[in-house]
Amino acid sequence: MSFLIDFEPLGRRVACPPGRSLMDCARSQGIGVSSVCGGHGTCNSCKVQVVRGAVSPPTPVELKTFQQHELQAGWRLACQALPESDCKLHVPPESMTAAQRTQVEGLEVAVTPQPAVSAFSVDLAAPSSDDLRADSQRVVDALKEYHGVECRAVDVDVLRTLSDRLRSWDWKAQVFVRERELISVAGRPARLLGLAVDLGSTKIAGYLVDLLTGQTLAARGVTNPQVSYGEDVISRINQTLKSPTDGRRLRELVIEAINQLAAELCRQAAATVEEIADAVIVGNTAMHHLALGLPVGQLAQAPFVPAVSQALDIRARDAGLRLAAGTCVHFLPNIAGFVGADHVAMLLATQAGWATGNVLLLDIGTNTEVSLVRDGEIAAASCASGPAFEGGHIQDGMRAAAGAIERVRLDNGTVQYETIDGAPPVGICGSGILDAIAQMHLAGVLDDTGRMANRHPRVRSRDGRIEFVLVGENERPERRAIVLTQKDVRELQLAKAAIRAGIQMLLEASRLVEKELDRVIIAGAFGSYIDVASAITAGMLPPLLLDRFKQVGNAAGMGARMALVSRAEREKAARIASGVRYVELSGAAGFSRTFTAATYLGRYQLTGGKRKEAG
Ligand code: FES
Repeated sequence: MSFLIDFEPLGRRVACPPGRSLMDCARSQGIGVSSVCGGHGTCNSCKVQVVRGAVSPPTPVELKTFQQHELQAGWRLACQALPESDCKLHVPPESMTAAQRTQVEGLEVAVTPQPAVSAFSVDLAAPSSDDLRADSQRVVDALKEYHGVECRAVDVDVLRTLSDRLRSWDWKAQVFVRERELISVAGRPARLLGLAVDLGSTKIAGYLVDLLTGQTLAARGVTNPQVSYGEDVISRINQTLKSPTDGRRLRELVIEAINQLAAELCRQAAATVEEIADAVIVGNTAMHHLALGLPVGQLAQAPFVPAVSQALDIRARDAGLRLAAGTCVHFLPNIAGFVGADHVAMLLATQAGWATGNVLLLDIGTNTEVSLVRDGEIAAASCASGPAFEGGHIQDGMRAAAGAIERVRLDNGTVQYETIDGAPPVGICGSGILDAIAQMHLAGVLDDTGRMANRHPRVRSRDGRIEFVLVGENERPERRAIVLTQKDVRELQLAKAAIRAGIQMLLEASRLVEKELDRVIIAGAFGSYIDVASAITAGMLPPLLLDRFKQVGNAAGMGARMALVSRAEREKAARIASGVRYVELSGAAGFSRTFTAATYLGRYQLTGGKRKEAG
């Protein structure tokens, strides 16, 4: 016997066996209910309202999360509540994983195409009693005779369909060759296309590229469906270690998402996936390992080593990807620890920006990768910034989706805000949280330690907890206020301190001080939308002149496209990765002192774990 659960406004009805939580039920059908903590009851991101039906009594976690009137109105945590009858649920926008802003655009770098795969047209003679060569031999001979290309192997998937296809195409075909191997055939005309993927922890950006011109034909971003197993990579690794079935499921989810992304990109460009004869995937080390089904236990334990760091070329089909028959996927190299191929791709795309001088490069996310380049020498570190910038562990936090407050200004006791798409406010996303905290600090609501003072008209005390009202109940009838609590401020302080401390440790490892930085390049979706001045005021970034900062959008996606289009760029990426000096922050001398100093708000310089107020 199962209960039927309706998820609204998604319009999905799902059968849920007794003893499974509402979250299990959503996951089983790929319904995107947010689960920042991976279902451990600690993040509040999976709030749903039971509008009809019976569920298990509130757990102690839920009693702490919700006020009595909210419980009476049916508000529950999907990871805690078990259905006891058929139910109808309302999933509010802030609890949905879908429709978040997924950035695909950013820096554009022109690259001369030099693809790893070549395409050739062949016109073959049909077999006869005088010519009994095998069909594949006929193709191989034509390649040599007309194009001077010597093929030494033919992919087995090509052989499985070649005979029928050649006959149906009247012996005219387009053939794709990679390193002297015939990897695919297509009817004419066919294009030579490639797929570049930036596999992020929360977002996946995909690009369909014409490999002969280097032109991007279509680009699209989607939410990484693994987020329903936890926002940060550690939650997903733990899930994989706890349950091999979940590990397999995580892999399947991401591979299917890439397959769907490829199909959608082809639809946009009026192409077919059989025309995709090459692919490049970049991602942080954990994403890379989870997508390939590699062991991840050692990644989560000191000294945090990957199973593999060099570049890999594997058959798309071995990865579960549905592309042209014998297509290979190139995985760019990882650096070390969690600093993976996405950071290598970012370094590749931004090379012109760090070729000279002292340059800091940041890709901010649940895991923030930082590189410091001093006259061409690169040191890199990974900062566990956590999910606060994605709205995780924040009372009214949400991802960057329609209705998220993304800009905040305080003006004489009034709050001015902007939401994504100008939609009515439903929560606050990372850039809004950073703005709000910077503004609250400037207005004296927060002191340097982050303590909230109860003397601003917008500050109030509720159920013994102090909170700042961004949008009051009177401004959104029948819904509760959107607030930032003292705990939210603490969460943000920890997240931004991880980044600032990482920057500082790299500066010290390179014997530099902040003011010697010539440029700061900020990549990634979140980094593109933050207000740099707010990030400085919140003490997340060093207090440099604003013209030294450059926000470049999805640079990792650009790097992946460069490596897709050009073998020379792949080699360059490998050289960059092998030349990076990785700095492990956990356990590094002086890190905890620097981290503590970096939790403070305000504009300050850091040296040797000490703050000095900036002018
Ligand atoms: S509290 Fe339910 S997923 Fe985090």
